[in-house]
Amino acid sequence: MSKMLVKNIGMLATPKGTGVKRGAAQGEIEVLRGAWVLIEDGVIAAVGTQTPPAAPEIVDAGGKLVTPGLVDAHTHLIFGGWRQNELGLKLHGASYLDIQNAGGGIQSTTNATRAATEGELAAKAAKALDEMLRFGTTTCEAKSGYGLATEHELKALRVIRELDECHPIDLVATFMGAHLVPAEYKHDRAEYVRLVCEEMIPLVHEQGIAQFCDVFCEADTFTVEESRAILEAGLKYGLRPKIHADEIEAIGGSVLAGELHAISAEHLIVCPPEGIESMAKGGVIACLLPATSFNLGAVFAPARDMVNAGVPVAMATDFNPGSCPCLNMQFVINLGCLKYKLTPEEVLTAVTLNAAAAIDLADKVGSVEPGKLGDLVVWDAPDLDYICYRVGSNLAETVIKRGRVV
Ligand code: NIG
Ligand code: FE
Repeated sequence: MSKMLVKNIGMLATPKGTGVKRGAAQGEIEVLRGAWVLIEDGVIAAVGTQTPPAAPEIVDAGGKLVTPGLVDAHTHLIFGGWRQNELGLKLHGASYLDIQNAGGGIQSTTNATRAATEGELAAKAAKALDEMLRFGTTTCEAKSGYGLATEHELKALRVIRELDECHPIDLVATFMGAHLVPAEYKHDRAEYVRLVCEEMIPLVHEQGIAQFCDVFCEADTFTVEESRAILEAGLKYGLRPKIHADEIEAIGGSVLAGELHAISAEHLIVCPPEGIESMAKGGVIACLLPATSFNLGAVFAPARDMVNAGVPVAMATDFNPGSCPCLNMQFVINLGCLKYKLTPEEVLTAVTLNAAAAIDLADKVGSVEPGKLGDLVVWDAPDLDYICYRVGSNLAETVIKRGRVV
């Protein structure tokens, strides 16, 4: 049996429980001073503040802050190329949709992703995962969605599965064949929707390589009715719905999320009151992506209204080569406080337990409690406020995944 003791913890800050936290409960975390955590065979065995037990492997936290490992519940990890060429276009006033409609954006990344081999995509994504781990992310969701053809969507999902097996970060896969209608179907969108529903989804199910189905419900991508058809097809094959909603225009995606009882709705930058109401009723988690607002120069999602309405708020990076080339959850934490005006306690819950719930893993990760995986971050920080306040440095000092220093 492997045993690791993390001792001399100045502040242990963690949400508690195996389910999502909403409303006032989002800000109710446990704070222990002078604590220790015992991890046995990769799983937390005990947490205490009295005399610590003996263990062969000791990590001395040096009186610093310890939190659960961060959970990045929304990334587009698998892609070929980058899109730094779009920066100049943006600086000259082109909008995200202008660039997309001119053949840039998701379509150009799709071309690069189709041209890449499985090995090339895996090597590139592994490098990103290494960096995420250094910033404190220990669990991550990853979407397909730059293949937009059956063989290339399946290729991306296979890469996610391979990385889950060989990289310390645990990965959860989402099928997002409905990220954009690809160029070759521009004049027959109904046929592309049919392909997603009748060919891709059944194959994804048969191969057991994704848990969730996501759709980019937006003006110029998929309408509410197309999104409904795709998410319902996914549900028939056991893929739980997620939805990119209200990122640029509020066309009804968040209302649909509530109607379908989606596990989460993402972005929600311009979410209207009826969307918040529908999500509250449908038990939908709002997965907010503040680094995308930052990169798009957009407004920030109405996070406080969501908390007040009892919608659980999670936060993630949205790491992708276009709207958010950022994989640093610490920056997301900063923006959660500074732009959403959430408290450090609410933000901690958003990037740990609620993020875990948004990918159906709240029983395994997202808090420091017996029975959860031994995923911890020792921060170069005296307390929780400090990591919310410092910007631009990497404060993750020691990252522990399943009871191993990584
Ligand atoms: O979440 N909104 C859709 N997908 C990504 C952007 C993808 C891209 O620009 O390549 C997002 O913002
Ligand atoms: Fe996204």
